[in-house]
Amino acid sequence: MADLAAIILAAGKGTRMKSDLVKVMHPLAGSPMVAWPIDAAREAGTSHIVTVVGHQAEKIRDHFAGQDDITFALQGEQLGTGHAVASAADALAGFTGKVLILCGDVPLIRPESLRSMVEAHDATGATLTILTTRLANPFGYGRIVRGYDGRVIRIVEEKDASSEIRSCTEVNAGIYCADADFLFDAVRRIGNDNAQGEYYLTDIVIMAAERGLRCSAFPVANAMEVMGVNDRVHLAAAGAVTRHRINEALMLDGVTIIDPATTYIDRGVTVGRDTTIHPGVHLSGRTEIGEGCTIEQGAVIKGSTLGDGCVVEPGAVIRSCRLGSRVAVKAGTVMEDATIHDHTAIGPMAHLRPGTELMAHVKIGNFVETKKITMGEGSKASHLTYLGDASIGSNVNVGCGTITCNYDGVRKHRTVIEDDVFVGSDVQFVAPVTIGRNSLIAAGTTVTQDVPPDSLAIARAPQVNKDGWKLKKRD
Ligand code: UD1
Ligand code: CA
Repeated sequence: MADLAAIILAAGKGTRMKSDLVKVMHPLAGSPMVAWPIDAAREAGTSHIVTVVGHQAEKIRDHFAGQDDITFALQGEQLGTGHAVASAADALAGFTGKVLILCGDVPLIRPESLRSMVEAHDATGATLTILTTRLANPFGYGRIVRGYDGRVIRIVEEKDASSEIRSCTEVNAGIYCADADFLFDAVRRIGNDNAQGEYYLTDIVIMAAERGLRCSAFPVANAMEVMGVNDRVHLAAAGAVTRHRINEALMLDGVTIIDPATTYIDRGVTVGRDTTIHPGVHLSGRTEIGEGCTIEQGAVIKGSTLGDGCVVEPGAVIRSCRLGSRVAVKAGTVMEDATIHDHTAIGPMAHLRPGTELMAHVKIGNFVETKKITMGEGSKASHLTYLGDASIGSNVNVGCGTITCNYDGVRKHRTVIEDDVFVGSDVQFVAPVTIGRNSLIAAGTTVTQDVPPDSLAIARAPQVNKDGWKLKKRD
């Protein structure tokens, strides 16, 4: 459909949201509301999308920067939907195909419905086609007035409607397909003599009728698709619909979602087949989960990639991380901007801070904090340890209670621990310090000097036993 363009109306403020953020930028499943109709138009086959912006135009532009099929038309003052479409005319100068018109605050419309509407437009030889639906409570919507032959002859806004017209339940969804020549000529001629003093796009229906051009209605069966979001109650309802769609698509692709009602997955997240997602999980941003993973209760994963066969236990938080396959992230672990290679185990309750890289078969145990470190294959820090600004080789055992003292009060310094080193419990490394390969650091040692390879470093006060001391004290 190279002869199909779209105009997205998104210049309004959205007063009823009571927000500092313009309405169409409020997120639904992680994407701004307006991204949904934009994507629907794209999937329906539009070659070019003009988004009409006004309030917080820069914010909207910035979000879509780099999406080359979108251009922006500025509507400085919001004088009505007809005026908004007229503002897009220059951006589509010379275009002679069909134009889809969508509203930024009607986000649930499906591409399939748009495609069917375009097909109906072509099949009926219409100049203008209006998407409609029937609502038990049509309050607030424009009503469709049909002539004796069933053709649409007028749309009347709620505020301009007589009680007879108000009782009509067929409503205008605010979504149209129109021939460009007619559309841009018509919107230039719209007046604002109505209850709201606005330039109503809906007035082009009368113009088509007056010119003897055909105006068709295209009813959609599912009224939910045309739900307009005007306040935060609507926002939550629309959010639930978008989540439901995302979860359903994943389930049909082979993902087990135990309780879709409490699973929050953003648009664009990918999940491999045979992965199981437990209740209360949040997957957001550019997240990719591999096949055969288990993501347990309450895990929060944002902007991260996980390979196949990973297990993420309850309450883990993973942000901006890259995980290989078969990584086990145990309960309560928090990690950010970390790279984790295959077959590693982390936590429970570990804290991996930015710049952590763990090679394959590493084990990080409970209450271990890391920051700006690399840890080579097969190394372990199983309990109660702080490792910061360090390069740790492979097959290193870091004993319980080890601390890299990386900060001297002014600057940060590095600790280097080469391969095959055994670090006993309760060791402090006062950086900068280098431990040569295959050395042993005795428990309780405070290391202040470099240690050569293959040696033992021990620095602790010799033990003194005083026989019978306790008995004497009691006497
Ligand atoms: C509009 C329709 C109504 C329909 C309803 C469906 C008109 C006159 N009425 O009413 O028949 O039932 O949508 O939801 O078209 N906008 C601009 N610039 C403007 C005015 C609006 O960009 O000057 C944008 C808004 O940001 C919004 C969309 O157009 O995204 C719809 O505008 P809104 O004021 O919400 O129209 P409704 O009163 O809902
Ligand atoms: Ca509206």
